[in-house]
Order: sequence, then C-alpha cells, then structure tokens
Amino acid sequence: MSKSIFEALGGEAAVEQAVDIFYRYVLQDDRINFWFEDIDMEKQAAKQHAFMTMAFGGPHAYTGADLRTGHAKMVERGLNDTHFDAVKENLVKALNELSVPAHLIQQVLDLVETTRNDVLNRAPAPASV
Ligand code: HEM
Repeated sequence: MSKSIFEALGGEAAVEQAVDIFYRYVLQDDRINFWFEDIDMEKQAAKQHAFMTMAFGGPHAYTGADLRTGHAKMVERGLNDTHFDAVKENLVKALNELSVPAHLIQQVLDLVETTRNDVLNRAPAPASV
C-alpha cells in the first residue's frame, strides 16, 4: 500500500501544526465555539490532538465506540450535522493554510466523514451495494 495520509501529510509534526491552526479557527467560529466553553484546556489539547491524528489516519485512531461515548452528552444537548459540517469546514481552512494538496484534503475529509454517525450517535448507514 502507498503511504498513509498521516505520513504523506508529514506525520506527528504536521499534526501538531494542524491542531494549532484548526483550533484557532474553531474558536473563532460562532457556529461551534460554544461547545468548547467550560472544557478544561488540558483535556482539550489532548482531544484536538486525538481528533487530528484520527483525521490524518495516524496511529491510535479512535474507535466508533469512543467517539459515541465522547460525544453522547453533547448529542443530548443538540449536537447535529450543522456542527459536524462546520468542523469539517474549519479543517479544510486549516489544511489549506498549511498548503496541503487538494487530493490529500479530500482523503482527510472522506475519513472524517466515516465518523459522522458515531459522533452524532446515530445508527450506522446501511452498507452500500
Ligand atoms: C468530525 C468528527 C469528530 C471527531 C473525529 C472527534 C473526535 C473527538 C475525540 C477523539 C474526542 C475525545 C473523546 C474522549 O477522549 O472521550 C472528542 C471530544 C469532544 N469533541 Fe469531538 N470529534 C468530532 C466532532 C466534533 C464536533 C462536530 C464537535 C462540536 C462542534 C466536537 C466537540 C467535542 C468536544 C467539546 C469534546 C470534549 C468533550 C468533553 O471533554 O466532555 N467534536 N472529539
């Protein structure tokens, strides 16, 4: 198999850089920044790091069960597709700022998209034929 997206994007160093930029955009975005109030910063940094490693297809990828549990309380409070889409938009902005090539951004988005039903605690989509 060819290099993983994680390696192609620059591995751990790229994750760190992308986290900083992505998080800055998220906190500026009034559609979603309220979700990140009242969260302790240490937990938040670990979360962002886990998010980005997962988005890059890197090691320690999170399982659906983790993502379901991690967001269950938020879904009860109204987390929905609009928020998920906004997170994706901010991710694209961050990756563009890092001059990541379009085909790799698309791979990242495809990977993140596979988590939608878990993050939003919905039944999995039916398998496509
Ligand atoms: C797009 C796909 C997403 C992925 C892959 C993802 C990933 C993660 C991960 C790995 C955690 C840590 C879970 C844990 O350690 O228990 C987490 C927690 C969290 N996520 Fe997400 N997330 C996604 C979408 C979202 C969205 C759309 C929002 C809100 C706009 C969001 C807000 C949060 C918050 C606030 C926490 C911390 C919850 C807490 O500490 O109580 N996430 N996410």
